[in-house]
Amino acid sequence: MLTCPSKIAEDILSHSQSNPQKTTIIDLFAGAGGNSIAFALSEKWDRVIAIEKDAATLACAQHNAAVYGVADTITWVHGDSLDFLARLKDRGGKGGLDHSLQVDPARTCLFASPPWGGVSYRDQDVFDLSTMEPYNLATLHDACRPMGHALYLPRTSDLRQIAKLAPAGRKIEVVQYCMEGASKAMVVYIPASE
Ligand SMILES: C[S@@+](CC[C@H](N)C(=O)[O-])C[C@H]1O[C@@H](n2cnc3c(N)ncnc32)[C@H](O)[C@@H]1O
Repeated sequence: MLTCPSKIAEDILSHSQSNPQKTTIIDLFAGAGGNSIAFALSEKWDRVIAIEKDAATLACAQHNAAVYGVADTITWVHGDSLDFLARLKDRGGKGGLDHSLQVDPARTCLFASPPWGGVSYRDQDVFDLSTMEPYNLATLHDACRPMGHALYLPRTSDLRQIAKLAPAGRKIEVVQYCMEGASKAMVVYIPASE
């Protein structure tokens, strides 16, 4: 059931029409593949790279992508996405990575649907993103910031913490994704910054 991932895929595309046009999308926490599959099904990206650190989950994502007929159009990476991003920063997209994984940061955007561990967001009216585990907002943003990034976060996430990440003179767009009238999650669209 790809309803929400398809809408997110559409919205990421509309945020990526900037100059230069983005041609690669990296799903940093691919999980069972829902978002990567939606990106591939859109047929708007030259490259979809899906990273997942758990081998069994990655196998499940590959199976799901095969069901949707897009397994071969996604580049699958069994690894740690934060390590991958650190290597990209290292040498402007090369960073000792395999040739197939080298990307042009100016033409790449990132999507992150991280684990929402730690204190449950359900127990807080406003979710303190500094408590999210194992990666809090600051960790995710620091890792992603050279590229535009879309973060999939709990629906009650603290908007004041998010607003502080806006690069000078730029805005962050926040979209609540609802089903049957109730928000399921928000995605924050953060422009690239130094
Ligand atoms: C919330 S799930 C992602 C769900 C996914 N969007 C989907 O549609 O199924 C988070 C995933 O991130 C993976 N993960 C956690 N830390 C990671 C890391 N450092 N690098 C890559 N994957 C990671 C977990 O194994 C888990 O499968």
